[in-house]
Amino acid sequence: MSHPVAKTDFCDALSRFASGVVIVAARTPEGPVGFTASAFSSVSLDPPLVLVCVGKAASAYGGVMGAARFGISVLQDKQAWLARQFARSGDRFAGVPLAEGQGVPWIARALALLECRPHARHEAGDHVILVGEVVAVRIASGKPLVHYGRALGGFELDVALAHANATAGASRVES
Ligand SMILES: Cc1cc2nc3c(=O)[nH]c(=O)nc-3n(C[C@H](O)[C@H](O)[C@H](O)COP(=O)(O)O)c2cc1C
Repeated sequence: MSHPVAKTDFCDALSRFASGVVIVAARTPEGPVGFTASAFSSVSLDPPLVLVCVGKAASAYGGVMGAARFGISVLQDKQAWLARQFARSGDRFAGVPLAEGQGVPWIARALALLECRPHARHEAGDHVILVGEVVAVRIASGKPLVHYGRALGGFELDVALAHANATAGASRVES
């Protein structure tokens, strides 16, 4: 199908959007499935909802969509190898330390862990927007892994600017 914007232009534009990186994972009777995602967002505070866009052609699609619970692990900057491993074929869980005691596969030492139950699914082209209600969370300290310009890297926080913004108390954006 032809569109007014070329695929390469679309991808170039979207590559300028910096995002965090998560691993979306679920247990299935055949074992755990999961994939790397940057199309992740908070949606609602009451009830607490998040969304992730899941590619229909992805090998983990059926497993994640069919699960009663799925886990989201927000990666820290030392976990770029996990972002790569969960985007490649092969045993994605090989050598991956999991956080103990949960009904969903959570990545150990991730910055934030969310357990979700499916809330809604919305068709969106070659992806499905999976909305999850967050039923459990766990957080850790560290720095985020960032996806920007088709690369994975770290994020250097300007502590002085962050402090100024926090004490100003407003959702102000520096230009
Ligand atoms: C940084 C990064 C972000 C990604 N974001 C998404 C995403 O938001 N949604 C998605 O379905 N796939 C995303 N992918 C692709 C999947 O991780 C995975 O490669 C894809 O599902 C193909 O998996 P398969 O070979 O098992 O089919 C991303 C990959 C990378 C490296």
